[in-house]
Amino acid sequence: MTQRRSFLQGLAGLGIALALGPGRADAARAPLTRPIPSTGERIPLIGVGSWLTFDTGAGRGALERLQPVLQTFFDHGGRLIDSSPMYGTAERVIGELLPRVNGRGALFAATKVWIYGQALGRRQMEASRSLWGVPRFDLMQIHNMLDWEGHLEVLREMKREGRIRYIGITTSHGRRHDELLQAMQKTDFDFVQFTYGLHDRDAESRLLPLAAERRMAVIANRPFDGGALFGRVQGKPLPDWAAGIDCANWAQLFLKFVVSHPAVTCAIPATSNPAHMLENMGANFGRLPDAALRRRMAQHFDGI
Ligand SMILES: NC(=O)c1ccc[n+]([C@@H]2O[C@H](COP(=O)([O-])OP(=O)(O)OC[C@H]3O[C@@H](n4cnc5c(N)ncnc54)[C@H](OP(=O)(O)O)[C@@H]3O)[C@@H](O)[C@H]2O)c1
Repeated sequence: MTQRRSFLQGLAGLGIALALGPGRADAARAPLTRPIPSTGERIPLIGVGSWLTFDTGAGRGALERLQPVLQTFFDHGGRLIDSSPMYGTAERVIGELLPRVNGRGALFAATKVWIYGQALGRRQMEASRSLWGVPRFDLMQIHNMLDWEGHLEVLREMKREGRIRYIGITTSHGRRHDELLQAMQKTDFDFVQFTYGLHDRDAESRLLPLAAERRMAVIANRPFDGGALFGRVQGKPLPDWAAGIDCANWAQLFLKFVVSHPAVTCAIPATSNPAHMLENMGANFGRLPDAALRRRMAQHFDGI
């Protein structure tokens, strides 16, 4: 019986080793982190998004399916969860799941305000806090720049009063980069969030350099182009240099490209699948590509 158990445990360990990448079997190793420039506080390079994947309704079946996803996230050093009142039931689902998972004390809670008007914004943020069941959010972001100057006043007040810790602003899909650049020039955001990945490198020309210059943390959203990147590489072998940066699968290669940009603080891939979460969290460990290999990764991807 004992022999059988240790054999099964060995298999489970091997599964983790394969998903995390060569030589990265030890999930207890410290994850890779980057500092938030405005304070120096360090957060892991890989967080998790919740759009669509957690908008499942908070029924028992959905919670039972998603609990292992979130447990795998915390088990492998995850901290930052990104959500929004725009994501349907995702905030409710997160709030239901958090008390059920171990390691939730490490949570770095990030959501958004997404509504016109300061009074409605205040009400929405309080509703989000209650849905998550957290005493306060670590990061409150203005979703898609909606009514951003109005919300900014409220967020500054909340930060002064200790009701949130960081202020951010978001966009995605390459939209409104000019407006975001202007907002970043004149505003002291702690975080900015936009799309960056092998499929969309537009941020490299202006957004990422400005974020570095203005000392803003960067959250890269849609690192897999909503999952489309996996279709693009389906049936294609990993390049042989992937092992040299501890990538055992395409997910880790996509994510390591994103988080190895020096101005990126973290990426927030979304998944509803615990095996995918295990792969994604593997990018939080091991070696990262240098500038030369990053160029090679982009060339390789463009050639696929
Ligand atoms: N304006 C904004 O503020 C804004 C806009 C867009 C997104 N975001 C944030 O960014 C997060 C990420 O973006 P996203 O959700 O649009 O897309 P994404 O993270 O680029 O892709 C998610 C998709 O990839 C699949 N996937 C994940 N890991 C995988 C793996 N290892 N192997 C194969 N497939 C995998 C998932 O399917 P499975 O469930 O089957 O794994 C899911 O369909 C969002 O959830 C949200 O939190 C913010």
